[in-house]
Amino acid sequence: MKNIVISGTPGCGKTSVAKEISNLIKAKIMSLNELAISDEFSFEYDEERKTYIVDFEIFLPYILDKIEDIKQENPPYLIIESHFSDIIPERFIDYVFILRCDPDELFRRLEIKNFDREKINENIQAEILGNCANYFIQKRIKAPIYEIDTTNTNIEAVAQIIVEIIFENNNGENFKIGKVDWLEKLFKEDRLNEFFD
Ligand SMILES: Nc1ncnc2c1ncn2[C@@H]1O[C@H](COP(=O)(O)OP(=O)(O)OP(=O)(O)O)[C@@H](O)[C@H]1O
Ligand SMILES: [Mg+2]
Repeated sequence: MKNIVISGTPGCGKTSVAKEISNLIKAKIMSLNELAISDEFSFEYDEERKTYIVDFEIFLPYILDKIEDIKQENPPYLIIESHFSDIIPERFIDYVFILRCDPDELFRRLEIKNFDREKINENIQAEILGNCANYFIQKRIKAPIYEIDTTNTNIEAVAQIIVEIIFENNNGENFKIGKVDWLEKLFKEDRLNEFFD
């Protein structure tokens, strides 16, 4: 079983793309966010930030056991998706795909998801700073890390690119991590103040 790890700021399309990939290839999906809020865990809720606080010391061993259980079923691929999927240890990672999205488009997507203004700002700032990508760069893993700009590429096409890279029909050269830089773009447009005040 090969593990495909997908990360990216909320709204970049991880869940949508994971589902589409599983339509294209025989892949199981593990959505860490869904598991984190499931009944098995009584995580604290942070009222101010409107988010669950996950105790990774309990959650991670549970996830790793679950990956081992799925492996017994022998599916060819397992997709692990979450904005915190960098918690997965290197030995469980075969490919990493970070989904990225232009801040203006991300704003629209998060509004559709009904995130409140504060949560939208927090996530857009994280996307501009490239947090999810940086967490993986810092892991210094051997597995290849790709970054896909989903701004003008629909869900089906993003899934297609990922499958092509895995099947080696695409050498992934255009998707090597480090090519997406919203900070530079907004700086040149003199718009950084719009997002960081
Ligand atoms: N490539 C895309 N093009 C246009 N719209 C997209 C694309 N990918 C996702 N969307 C839309 O953006 C919204 C967010 O997608 P999705 O819920 O899959 O993101 P996510 O990364 O899983 O977010 P979260 O971390 O909150 O779970 C949805 O409305 C989805 O239809
Ligand atoms: Mg999701």
